[in-house]
Amino acid sequence: MIPCALLLLALLSASLQAEEVCLLFSGEERGYLEPCGCAKPLMGGIAKRHTFLKSLSEPWLSVSLGDLAGHGGSTFSIQRQDELKAETLVQALKIMNYSVHNLGEMDLDMGLEVLAYLFPPDSVPLLSSNIRVANPFIEVVPYKIHRVKTLRIGFLGILSPALLGTPPAGVEIISPTEALQPLIKELKDKVDVLVLLSHASMEESLKLARDFPEFQLIASGHRADHPVVVKEGKTWVFTPGIKGKHLVLYRYNPDNPLEVEGAIETVTLNERFKDSAPMLQVLDSYQERLREENLLLRVEKFPLPGQTSYVGSSACSPCHPAVSQHWGSTLHATAYETLLKAGRASDPECVACHVVGLNYVSGFQSQDISPDLTGVGCEACHGPGSLHIAECGMQGVERGIPNSEFRIPHSGRYGKVSPEGCKGCHDPEHSPTFQFESYLEKIKHPMEVPKN
Ligand code: HEC
Ligand code: HEC
Ligand code: HEC
Ligand code: HEC
Repeated sequence: MIPCALLLLALLSASLQAEEVCLLFSGEERGYLEPCGCAKPLMGGIAKRHTFLKSLSEPWLSVSLGDLAGHGGSTFSIQRQDELKAETLVQALKIMNYSVHNLGEMDLDMGLEVLAYLFPPDSVPLLSSNIRVANPFIEVVPYKIHRVKTLRIGFLGILSPALLGTPPAGVEIISPTEALQPLIKELKDKVDVLVLLSHASMEESLKLARDFPEFQLIASGHRADHPVVVKEGKTWVFTPGIKGKHLVLYRYNPDNPLEVEGAIETVTLNERFKDSAPMLQVLDSYQERLREENLLLRVEKFPLPGQTSYVGSSACSPCHPAVSQHWGSTLHATAYETLLKAGRASDPECVACHVVGLNYVSGFQSQDISPDLTGVGCEACHGPGSLHIAECGMQGVERGIPNSEFRIPHSGRYGKVSPEGCKGCHDPEHSPTFQFESYLEKIKHPMEVPKN
């Protein structure tokens, strides 16, 4: 038997629980669809985010802080890949029932035409209180009111003028203070909770919190690597950090007099959260589009300095048989197979570090065209080898010695490898445990035994 008083308490808290609502904030997306899998722990990604959202028991509402994708890259393939990522993210935000997307400078940088395509009328609403867009195909709303149960939540959004250079044609920027004043007045009596989505630096967001104490929440989002939560007066000012690796949750219970300011918590989307099946499908179709559009073959190729070019790893083996055999046993040799297994072998962003010379003339193009440049081949560390081979080959021929048996003293001219060369791929994001000495130890070649 459960004592009556306890039962009553349980019921009471259950009813309190039921009235609680939850707002979810994800930071700038920046084209981050999934963790690359290069290193553990796996963090973030739309598939984990979806799983988390589905696990919430109370009614919730989620908002996006802007910047879907963009590198400011000027080459066709990068721009196109950013567009495809942005499209994939909008699709994901829709599936996750997002309530608004606050306009970021990267969103505007994609161009109004692309923006209109990404956000058709039935899509996630685009919010900005201080950016006016004169384009009949794009609707940017200055505020948005959402209801969760009985609670009315008003969202305003700003983009810091400091983040935009000269605005693109058809875009007008108003100072955030000027834009917010009349809107706050208009909304004050219409909503229970007033939220500002602030695409600005944390300092600027804190200043807005001091200038406008009417906001209960200010979600700040611009280039903050990690989540931060602070209280400025009675306003929570916070950022979830970039790339959706973390979320900030605001829980509020209007019926609980002890919790007038609500509670804030940060959730890290780590490996505790499984990938959701619908999002895995979204990611698969993104990869499918990269394949269909053949983005790998459309990567811009820069010329190599001098007359040299890539020749492929098997061209080295006749003269460096022991080194070549050893290399074949390292994971560098099979780095492209790793991508094939992961289903990411057509994604230029992955391929760049898992092959030789993707961004250069005579470098990797595709597995069919350049099978000998797959994986982290000899020339990924030593540089293009055609001149070296010509030089060694010629000298052997001149002296009547077959190439494979000819040895010259170390000239020190070709193929010097520095720690910096490794770090081009082993950067902190993709190889956080990288240390030159200990890593080199694992892949160090045997000495070639001279034949004579
Ligand atoms: C072109 C990009 C690239 C460069 C340059 C590069 N690596 Fe790697 N490295 C990779 C990739 C990709 C993997 C993972 C391969 C896999 O598991 O499929 C890797 C894996 C490794 C591993 C684990 C391999 C094993 O067999 O256990 C070590 C150790 C390593 N790299 C050391 C180095 C060192 C030292 C350098 C510089 C001298 C270097 N790498 C340069 C891309 C690179
Ligand atoms: C900046 C270079 C770089 C890029 C870009 C990159 N990788 Fe890697 N990847 C590496 C390096 C370096 C390693 C080895 C890390 C280590 O062992 O410290 C690696 C390892 C891996 C591994 C093997 C992990 C293991 O546990 O054996 C997988 C899988 C992988 N990468 C997939 C991807 C995918 C998918 C993408 C694209 C979304 C990608 N990589 C993009 C550099 C890169
Ligand atoms: C991950 C980077 C990396 C890759 C890939 C790599 N090397 Fe090296 N290689 C090095 C480094 C680093 C050194 C210098 C080692 C040292 O300083 O102790 C070296 C040294 C050498 C040397 C001079 C030392 C000797 O034994 O005479 C030769 C020759 C050589 N590599 C050939 C090759 C060939 C051939 C391949 C491909 C089959 C290859 N390397 C792949 C990093 C690499
Ligand atoms: C025609 C024969 C031949 C071919 C092919 C060849 N090499 Fe060499 N390589 C040599 C000779 C000979 C040396 C000098 C060896 C020595 O002194 O130990 C050498 C030296 C090197 C060195 C050390 C350079 C130095 O000065 O310390 C590196 C690194 C190297 N080769 C990498 C490569 C790579 C990578 C390839 C393939 C792209 C390759 N070699 C293809 C003959 C060749």
